[in-house]
Amino acid sequence: MDITRIGVVGAGQMGNGIAHVLALAGYDVLLNDVSQEALDKAVALIDRNLDRQVSREKISAEDKAAAMARIKTTMTLTDLGKTDLVIEAATEREEIKQKIFDALLPHLEPHTILTSNTSSISITRLASRTDRPEKFMGFHFMNPVPLMQLVELIRGIATDAETYDACLGVVERLGKTAASAEDFPAFIVNRILMPMINEAVYTLYEGVGNVNSIDQSMKLGANHPMGPLELADFIGLDTCLAIMNVLHDGLADTKYRPCPLLTKYVEAGWLGRKTKRGFYDYRGETPVPTR
Ligand SMILES: NC(=O)c1ccc[n+]([C@@H]2O[C@H](COP(=O)([O-])OP(=O)(O)OC[C@H]3O[C@@H](n4cnc5c(N)ncnc54)[C@H](O)[C@@H]3O)[C@@H](O)[C@H]2O)c1
Repeated sequence: MDITRIGVVGAGQMGNGIAHVLALAGYDVLLNDVSQEALDKAVALIDRNLDRQVSREKISAEDKAAAMARIKTTMTLTDLGKTDLVIEAATEREEIKQKIFDALLPHLEPHTILTSNTSSISITRLASRTDRPEKFMGFHFMNPVPLMQLVELIRGIATDAETYDACLGVVERLGKTAASAEDFPAFIVNRILMPMINEAVYTLYEGVGNVNSIDQSMKLGANHPMGPLELADFIGLDTCLAIMNVLHDGLADTKYRPCPLLTKYVEAGWLGRKTKRGFYDYRGETPVPTR
């Protein structure tokens, strides 16, 4: 199947990165959001991030100009009806995603593939409420999209081989690597990563180590580029907690019980880098451990 026009729903952290890499790879991108401000911010950010790639000589100024010219924005969701593939990357709330698909479906071409960048919602359940469960799948980019090599491709129970192959073709054209995952809670990366982060928080909670000793142990003792608590702050502690809850609820196993200390930080509004405080305090020149 020939994919040339791709619709991206949601112009936030992930949507702007997805539009960036698609346009650079030569796809025509139509980026949609409910907020004009989000669309304007996304285009400005893509422009800056492409500039950085030009200054590092990763791409030419012509590549940048061509990529920017391929990105169009719209607040009218139904404009995405004429695309070959839709990647939904709106806010992680099932009712929001459901409304987007409901509004879009009557306007879609029969061949259009629908995908979601969700980190935790069941692909099979989202697919079952559309008119094309066989043409529906998970297209899970990692953050930050332009830098991360992996894309998880998640088959719902009904996803057909043609749909999977078409999405795999897109990942390959982006120069990225696909990991094929079945549709179970948190897929592969977060299924493994989040319990490790949660365990690091338990290690802190039980006083086995402090923030510094835990992060240093995993960096120097396991060769991880970032410590687990530093990484949790980068991802967002609310996101980490939400994914642990998805694992706990979806797999009904106490080994996924979110650490009470993680819950406490989220209750305090200490969500990591984005709120300037998490396991580290980022309000000064250098991050200071909070424990
Ligand atoms: N942040 C991450 O590290 C990460 C990694 C992988 C996947 N994801 C997934 O990507 C998706 C987006 O996450 P994000 O971090 O970019 O969120 P974000 O909050 O940065 O952006 C979400 C955007 O969706 C827009 N939006 C909300 N309702 C909409 C609607 N009805 N129609 C169109 N746009 C709408 C918002 O205005 C906002 O601009 C989520 O499903 C999330 O699980 C996030």
